[in-house]
Amino acid sequence: MKKEKILVLNFGGQYDQLIVRRVREMGVYAELHECDTNLSEINLDNLAGIILTGGPQSVNDSESPKADSKIFDLGVPVLGICYGHQYINYVNGGTIETPNLAEYGKTDLKVDKESCLFKDIPEESIIWMNHKDRVKDLAEGFRATASTANTDVAAMENTEKALYSVQFHPEVVHSEYGQKILENFVLGICKAEKTWKMKDFAKEIIAEIKEKYQGEKMICGLSGGVDSSVAATIVSKAIGDNLQCIFVDHGLLRKDEAKSVMETYKGLGLNVKMVDKSKEFLDLLKGESDPETKRKIIGNHFVEVFEEEAKKIGGANYLVQGTIYPDVIESGKDKASVIKSHHNVGGLPEDMDFKGLVEPLRLLFKDEVRALGEEIGVPHDMVWRQPFPGPGLAIRVIGDITEDKLRIVRETDAILREEVKNFGLNEKIWQYFTVWTPIKTVGVKGDARSYDNVIAVRAVTSTDAMTVEAANLPYELMQKLSNRMINEVEGVGRIVYDITSKPPGTIEWE
Ligand code: XMP
Repeated sequence: MKKEKILVLNFGGQYDQLIVRRVREMGVYAELHECDTNLSEINLDNLAGIILTGGPQSVNDSESPKADSKIFDLGVPVLGICYGHQYINYVNGGTIETPNLAEYGKTDLKVDKESCLFKDIPEESIIWMNHKDRVKDLAEGFRATASTANTDVAAMENTEKALYSVQFHPEVVHSEYGQKILENFVLGICKAEKTWKMKDFAKEIIAEIKEKYQGEKMICGLSGGVDSSVAATIVSKAIGDNLQCIFVDHGLLRKDEAKSVMETYKGLGLNVKMVDKSKEFLDLLKGESDPETKRKIIGNHFVEVFEEEAKKIGGANYLVQGTIYPDVIESGKDKASVIKSHHNVGGLPEDMDFKGLVEPLRLLFKDEVRALGEEIGVPHDMVWRQPFPGPGLAIRVIGDITEDKLRIVRETDAILREEVKNFGLNEKIWQYFTVWTPIKTVGVKGDARSYDNVIAVRAVTSTDAMTVEAANLPYELMQKLSNRMINEVEGVGRIVYDITSKPPGTIEWE
């Protein structure tokens, strides 16, 4: 029988899905379950190995999470990470202590090169630690295979029982050889086969939705972005026209966006209705210059429009959303303070009467969503669109919004997009846009004095929008942008380039 599945058991850590992703990056299928799931509920055919994740609790606490004890009798290798490491030691008779000092962040690790887990890894490297408790006495039959200055047992193994564990986090990018360590376990020790492909994921999720929601009606708010488009396409492949999509034009979209997005949706065979509410949104925003108030006006009215349209359609029991894994972490597990009240167009109206949410992309990261999109035939341009904020151009016009300011942002943004594409940079830059500023500047245009506005160009590189750098745009591109924007767009007097990184700046100006 093929060995092609890694079971990841979650003990409540932050990196559970990241571990799954790291395994999938190797081309091996991984599945996440809560640690206390009864093994009889999980399909164990083709199981190659098990990974126990980290978690915030102490194994010495009687209430701490525990796994079905049969995981050690399945005859497959087990790798414990952080809490999982301590758990393996504890349930095999070892002890765990809570020292005075915790160990957080980048740490030097020294490994025993004899261990298969550390094959082809230098004796000394940097890993990421994040723990209070540590192993005190090793369980019988185990030996320590790595250490740090503060932790004697930073890794251990019992090769006879095929049990391996590490105190540090190999799954995070800060662990220099983390991925190699995981590969040594998954491919080397478990001998898992690389049979996982996005194609299979697409097929499985479509089949699952088809089976689970046979005959049900659903609605989906489309934003024109990658996530909602891919989510809707997946669901529509499962339930066809029982999915009704709604695309609200709030009048704050980029040039020609509503038209081109609708054409793409139609091409995808989506059952989609566009509602043009631009006048309503612009009327509500008239005279308002506070960024947070603008966001709230748009967010609230979006929900009203969405509700109204959903009522007209009627009979939909489920709401489809393009939630992806980083959204899940941000809203559920991460307690970071709210920097801006992000409004995701298509967000769930709180008091709407749905039986539930359908979130087919919940377990995927952005690049996985893109790969899935390509796999199910979402056009390349749609899949590779840059992220666009729900409140749209409203947060790219500083202060109050008028049609004329929107025209300037739209036209300059269109030039920017065209030129970035001409320079072959459109898939290399995370986001790029222009911002209308209220600063007036003197210039000379055709021998006459001009007094027009300053427009800022923002272009950033990033992998997740959490941290960004200003993109290093070629000077020729900058020159071209400046010439074209000032010559072609009335009301533009000067172009400046925003070189701020995030943090301390944010991507958007408002
Ligand atoms: P910031 O400006 O916070 O942006 O660095 C991070 C990412 O989120 C987008 N963004 C928003 N998206 N509603 C949204 O749906 C919002 O209010 C909003 N504000 C920012 C931004 O474009 C970037 O991709």
